[in-house]
Amino acid sequence: MSEDKFYITTPIYYVNDVPHIGHAYTTIAADILARYNRLQGRAVFFLTGTDEHGQKVEKAAAEKGRTPKEHADMLVDNFKTLWQKLNISNDAFIRTTDPEHIKTVQGIIQLLWDNDEIEKRQYSGWYCTPDERFWTEKEIVKGNCPDCGRPVEEIEEENYFFLMSKYQDRLIQHIEDNEDFILPHTRRNEVLGFLKHNELGDLCISRPRARLAWGVPLPFDQEFVTYVWFDALLNYFSATRYLVPHPEQAKEGDFWWPADHHLIGKDILTTHAVYWITMLMALKFPLPDNIFAHGWWTVDGKKMSKSLGNVVDPAKLAEKFGIDAFRYFLFREVTFGLDGDFSEQALIRRINTELANDLGNLLSRFLTMVGKYLNEQILIPDDNTTAADSFAEECINALIPVVDDAKSQDWSHLRFNIILDNIWSVIRAANNYIAQTEPWKLVKDDPSMVKTVMFNVWNALRLTAVSIYPFMPDTSEKMWKQLGLKSLLNEAEESHSIYEWNWSPGYEIRVSKGDPLFPRIDTKKKNIKENKTKEQPLNKDNKADAGDNLISINEFAKVQLKVGKVIDVERVEGSSKLIKLQVDTGEKRQIVAGIGKTYAPEDLNGKSIVVVTNLKPAKLMGVESQGMLLAATDSEGVLSILTPEKDIKQGALIR
Ligand code: ME8
Repeated sequence: MSEDKFYITTPIYYVNDVPHIGHAYTTIAADILARYNRLQGRAVFFLTGTDEHGQKVEKAAAEKGRTPKEHADMLVDNFKTLWQKLNISNDAFIRTTDPEHIKTVQGIIQLLWDNDEIEKRQYSGWYCTPDERFWTEKEIVKGNCPDCGRPVEEIEEENYFFLMSKYQDRLIQHIEDNEDFILPHTRRNEVLGFLKHNELGDLCISRPRARLAWGVPLPFDQEFVTYVWFDALLNYFSATRYLVPHPEQAKEGDFWWPADHHLIGKDILTTHAVYWITMLMALKFPLPDNIFAHGWWTVDGKKMSKSLGNVVDPAKLAEKFGIDAFRYFLFREVTFGLDGDFSEQALIRRINTELANDLGNLLSRFLTMVGKYLNEQILIPDDNTTAADSFAEECINALIPVVDDAKSQDWSHLRFNIILDNIWSVIRAANNYIAQTEPWKLVKDDPSMVKTVMFNVWNALRLTAVSIYPFMPDTSEKMWKQLGLKSLLNEAEESHSIYEWNWSPGYEIRVSKGDPLFPRIDTKKKNIKENKTKEQPLNKDNKADAGDNLISINEFAKVQLKVGKVIDVERVEGSSKLIKLQVDTGEKRQIVAGIGKTYAPEDLNGKSIVVVTNLKPAKLMGVESQGMLLAATDSEGVLSILTPEKDIKQGALIR
């Protein structure tokens, strides 16, 4: 990352899609990074937008009796309005139908053509119309598209090809030399594995106008339009020519380029890590610092789809539960990079425990006490009084990785949930500090100490307000005001040391209690489904601790337990919970386990586990499981798989 500028992008979304949680996810992630970097005093360019060319838009427009552009003009507001609702602070919104973008695309294609990076060829291949892409004979699956499963048709035609294959070795080298170029590292390994074991073809970058008219015309052959991905990927560059905050930065070509992060979903990693990067190599443009591919959300354990009617509308959720709660949930619930499952129950649990209880109550208790004991005044003490206990130091230490990216990789690796965890450790510490110092007793026994304690909590809350700002900007501002401060952003603009000490000793600050930050959600009142996964009361058969349910040693001996070594792992397609493991227990067997919400496949590879090996095989979601791995679950739902305490050979018997 350059010291003073930060350029972040989201994918440009297909304009005729209805915006859903997946779109919101990437865009909020980019917003968090943009806001954090602005607070750090960096110049930020945060770009999002819409992908408007191609067959899908052309077809949908024709069905409605509109021109494709009219259709796109009507739909683009779905995204623009949602971003406003979700408090997205994008600096620009690019549309691939912008004349300036089209001009850049044509300029670049001409340049590549002039430099012999593009060639015209007779071509035959299997075409998937909905996905708008060709597949080879080898790639298709029983006459269907390997990606979407719909039938493909054989097409023979002349087309233009970008000579992508010649960049294969350079691409491998670049990814190998730059460890964090693709994150998370599991995705980097996937791309490297693919590139090392497959021969990269050349990329067909045109479509005959006779088949598809809605695209950017090739500047040197009016019979063809540009392949929609070639056009779309160039948005990241073309925006730096005409949408940047200051026009002079567009002229100084390389002020914003290259991007610091391209945020994308895992499904579009190949287009970014392979197509886009080789395009940039051919253009001799600098490469972006990082491509980060996040995981996918399922809903209540199921794939989100229009036909299931379970598409999550982010605007409705934000209305029902609050924008900040929704933003917080997405990045607290799941490690950014892994798949996650969305449910209202899980969201409510986070709101009631972490937002209402931990954070909201802390602020509210604190303000009540300052009102009662100190007439709403916080006195900035001199350094000696702050040193009266170690709490202040504890807070600062916990927040160093949250506020200082020079000292931690959490921000550059987009470890949002770890950052939030660090912030919550301060909130919990502040709650404990109040419980331990008991200001309600101090007020009688040692009144001057109340001032110190209240100041320390005030300062912890102030640091918390700044730290949560990227995630929950509204809440942060509300806290800031209740703490008696002006405006967080003004403050940030005035001095770049927002996290640091700013006031002189003796200065008095008047706090003012406002509405609760996060009212608790009463599931009954809100008419929200009760959590179906609630623990069932123990019945006679599963009374594990009860005396009338004892088994003999012979009965126990019937269960054959062995140590197994995990040799290969992947998720079961279509399930967020099930993971398929190939395990060596002396012989190879396949096990399907419902641990996918706690463990990612890469956490399990190579691990020694405990396996029941004489269980009748069973099928889970159509996948055979030849045994069961052992795991413990506590009353809070924390799950942990069992592993032997020291290295031991696979196949070892457990007795
Ligand atoms: O792919 N969970 O646009 P798009 C998480 N126009 N993310 C999800 C998701 C889910 N359930 N479903 C979709 C395009 N996404 C192209 C991009 S960029 C030059 C062109 C994510 O509207 C998906 O991973 O289909 C992708 O990153 C994004 O939504 C945009 O999808």
